[in-house]
Formats: sequence, C-alpha cells, structure tokens
Amino acid sequence: MLRAVAIGTGAYLPEKIMTNHDFSKNLETSHEWIIERTGIVQRHIAAEGENTSDLATKAGLEAVKNANVAPETIDLVILATTTPDDTMPSTATKVQHRLGITKGAAFDINAACSGFVYAMNIANGLIASGQVKRALVIGAETYSRILNWEDRGTCILFGDGAAAIILEAQEESGTNADRGILFSRIHSDGQYTDLLKTTGGISSTMTAGVLTMVGKEIFRHASSKMPASVEEGLQELRLNKDEIDWLVPHQANMRILTSVAQKLKLAEEKVITTVAMHANTSAASIPLALHQASQDGRIKKGDLIACPALGAGLTWGCFLLRW
Ligand code: ACO
Repeated sequence: MLRAVAIGTGAYLPEKIMTNHDFSKNLETSHEWIIERTGIVQRHIAAEGENTSDLATKAGLEAVKNANVAPETIDLVILATTTPDDTMPSTATKVQHRLGITKGAAFDINAACSGFVYAMNIANGLIASGQVKRALVIGAETYSRILNWEDRGTCILFGDGAAAIILEAQEESGTNADRGILFSRIHSDGQYTDLLKTTGGISSTMTAGVLTMVGKEIFRHASSKMPASVEEGLQELRLNKDEIDWLVPHQANMRILTSVAQKLKLAEEKVITTVAMHANTSAASIPLALHQASQDGRIKKGDLIACPALGAGLTWGCFLLRW
C-alpha cells in the first residue's frame, strides 16, 4: 500500500526574541508567574513587514534542501495557518510560487492549533489514494499580529514561527512496521467556539480581531482530548503505549504537555518539548518540534511518533507516524 513517508523537515524562527522579562516592563506579570504556569521562557516575534508567507517559504526551502528533492517534483502544498498574509489568495499559493513549484495544488487550511494535524491528515489521504506523489506540509503563524498585548492572560502564551515537512508516496507492506503515517484522525465540535476565538473577522467586523480565551476550559479540553486521540490511534493499530518512541504534542503549555504524558503513562524523556523557547506557535508547533528532534538526532529512522493537538473550534486530532 501507499504510505506518506517523511523525507525531510525545515524550520524558521524570526530573529527577534521576546523574553518574559520584556513583558513585565509594561504588564503586571513576572518571569516567575509565566514560567510556573506555562513553562515558557521566551518567544520569537516576526519583524515589521515579515509575514507568514516569509516564514513559511524559509521553512519550506530548508525542508526541500534536507529532503534533497527538486521543488518542481512537489505536487501539493498545504499551509496550516490562522494568520494568513491576506484574505486572498491563500498564503500557500504564494509559498508555492516562491519555491518555484508550478504544478499540483496549493491551499491553506485553518484549524487553529490543530492545523498541522489537519493538514497531515489531508496530505495523507491524497497520497494514499494515489493523487499526490510529494507533498509539502507547512505550519506557519504570526500570532503576534492577533494578540491583545494588554491582556496578560493570553499575550504571554504565543510566539511566531514556521516549520515544514515533505511527505512522499512510498510503496510499503501495509503493516505497523511500515515507515510513514500509520494512523491519522481529525475531530471538531463547534459548540465550544467561544472558548478560544478572535474578536473579529473578515465578514463580521472587516478586521482580524484579537485573540480571547477561557484558559481553564481550554486546559481541561486539551488535557483530556489530546491523550484520548492518541489512545484512539493505538487502539485502531492494536499497538501498546510503550511502543511509542516519541510523543510530539502541540506545544501549548508545559503543564498541558505533562498532563497529556501522565494520562498516557509515558515517561517524561519520551516527550519532545519546545514550548520553553518557542511558546505556543499554534499550527507551527508540532513541525517545529519534529524538526528540532530529528535534527538533534533524538528522532531516528524507524521511531514511532505520536502527534496529538487541540485548538480553537474546538478542533483536535492525532497522527501516528513511523519516521
Ligand atoms: N501574570 C500574572 N498574573 C496573571 C497572568 C500573568 N501573565 N495571567 C493571568 N494572571 C492572573 C489572573 O488575572 C488571575 O488573577 P485573579 O486571581 O486576581 O483573578 C490569576 O492569575 C489566575 O488566573 P487563571 O486564569 O485562573 O490562571 P491559570 O492557572 O488558569 O493559568 C493559563 C492561566 C496559563 C492561561 C492557563 O489557564 C492555561 O495554560 N490554559 C491553557 C490555555 C492555553 O495554553 N491556550 C493556548 C491556546 S489553545 C491550545 O493551544 C491548546
């Protein structure tokens, strides 16, 4: 059967770094409070004029280089983002053009912090059905543009960044020993739209609005739905928890990551975390963590990786991938 196999990753983080101490200059907050409640130390912030497409293009170029493929052989670009450059066209088509890709399809998807899991699900389906041979899947965000910088309960949580992965159709035997995506499932429940949203949008206010959140409720949903979506995959594949080599969850908050790992009874050493240095980069957080851990040699060929996420919508889901 055809599997979507990861053949390269890339990432880009804006140069400017904002520390917790920078917030305490203008807001009633402290490094100690932020560290204790979130585990976040710093975040990257896009420069003026530096847009989501710029971050995504840099991540995409690095993924192409690391995969050692010619960009024109890529026949699908999916860009997961909640912060596109413009209302139209999609940011994905801009990135496609800047990478020199002229065939296939390119589009954005918005599933907020679950965006990368949604994008991988769609890419996997198109590869498994034989419609696509090589897909570039990117998560890229400039959340700094939709934050209320006076709301200490939300602005400290997010950062900007982008990362990308190239998936290639490869013929595999159809067992759990295969490389590639072994399981992928996405969910949503719109009854929770008000828990995490922006105060405006194109059709409602003709502005982007700023992010608002009911933090405690999001925490509760994330710490139950993320582990449940990993369990769903394990059950479907008839695998045991201890067969997971790495848990690479959406990087929202260190306390959420710890809670997810505890519920799955996975050792801390198996959890890849980047939230301390990147904060929450929404759709970019899982590919940023995958890129970092594969580049530093922790994730190796043949490792089984579980990637759950939850985001606004609410949306959630998980993919299980053998590297
Ligand atoms: N500095 C200092 N005090 C703060 C700050 C801050 N940055 N932010 C909030 N506070 C205050 C509040 O005003 C409140 O004060 P009060 O008691 O006088 O009213 C007090 O701290 C406690 O506030 P809570 O909101 O109850 O704090 P909580 O322990 O829930 O932590 C947090 C808040 C960190 C947002 C937590 O709810 C959380 O992590 N939620 C998950 C949300 C998340 O990570 N979302 C990311 C997007 S969704 C996703 O990616 C899954």
